[in-house]
Amino acid sequence: MQRAVITGWGSCVPDAVLSNSDLESRLDTSDDWITTRTGIKERRIADATTGEIATVAARHALAAAGLQGSEIDMIVVATCTPDRLIPAVATVVQKEIGATGASAFDVNAACAGFAYGAAVGTSAIESGLAKRILVIGADRLSAWLDFEDRSTAVLFGDGAGAVVLEASDDLGASAPGVLSVDIGANGEFGEQLTVPGSGLEVHPPDKMVAITMDGREVFRQAVVVMGEIAAKVTESAGLELGDIDLLIPHQANSRIIDATARRLDLDPRRVFVNIHSYGNTSSASIPIALTEALEQGRIDPGGHIVFVAFGGGFSWGALAVRWGDRVHPLAKSDASLPPSTRTALEIMESNQV
Ligand code: UT7
Repeated sequence: MQRAVITGWGSCVPDAVLSNSDLESRLDTSDDWITTRTGIKERRIADATTGEIATVAARHALAAAGLQGSEIDMIVVATCTPDRLIPAVATVVQKEIGATGASAFDVNAACAGFAYGAAVGTSAIESGLAKRILVIGADRLSAWLDFEDRSTAVLFGDGAGAVVLEASDDLGASAPGVLSVDIGANGEFGEQLTVPGSGLEVHPPDKMVAITMDGREVFRQAVVVMGEIAAKVTESAGLELGDIDLLIPHQANSRIIDATARRLDLDPRRVFVNIHSYGNTSSASIPIALTEALEQGRIDPGGHIVFVAFGGGFSWGALAVRWGDRVHPLAKSDASLPPSTRTALEIMESNQV
């Protein structure tokens, strides 16, 4: 057996900023409500495709790992906002980065997508199916927001993040890599967070295709489940809760994050939070947060990191990871999105059909 080690990381956050005051100008809401109920101050809106944001994040992760696209043998894109149902976003990335020998497919587990993608990637390495995998979380939920619905329009933003997982033969007691994984779902709650009419089902023609959410139910379950599974993967990894050096939770609501940290008895300094800058970027939030945590020096060699997420489905996932020696990228990429002159509000307005 081999172990999956994170050797590269990177993100793509679009330039266009949608602030709380922009939303105040358009909706019956306030900066105070959004800040105190969610922790969000602003989010980014993409004037680009999901394939483009995923590819930019992938290029940064490849550079950090010191790899070429041609050296990757599997690409997993976690997304619930693919540009098309066919082909998979992962095959778009494959073409762009020249990963000609790679398998490529998408995973949809809504906001838990990155945890699912990383779980699949880890299993593929442990089973010997692949040796160098790109796991990307990329979502553009701004395209599925109803600007008339203040209960959802203020929450989400766009972005992408990626990691490179590489196979390692070192299974020693202090060896780096993914130590444990847990994923799960409960389809009884499918209607509590959904995009009616976004697939092949018939949708009333007078309604736009947009996210609907029972925020209180999501909140209620998220705080319980995220705490439980973070504790579970920590224990499965042979660690104590006190060994967690950094918790990187899905960024959906700062109150959910705080409650999860309290359940785990974690000092807030051991919890990474950047929701104020990006809102909820769905499957992208964890790899974006990981990239920023490394840039800010929040991860030390040998540190124990726990990723945990909860979202539509309901679905959830967590991973416990021991970091390697390297906390800096081997190289940097200058990849960026095509330039856009549109403001975030203009992009959002153009999505309202
Ligand atoms: O990534 C996974 C997916 N999503 C989540 O994890 C989200 C989980 N849920 C949440 O984060 C929270 O439930 C929300 C942020 C969505 C809502 O916060 P809440 O504290 O649960 O508020 P609420 O839904 O109970 O609404 C309280 C009040 C209501 O007014 P009334 O009925 O008390 O008069 C809402 O109409 O706040 C009102 N409200 C707003 N007011 C100003 C709802 N949205 C807004 C808004 N601005 N944007």
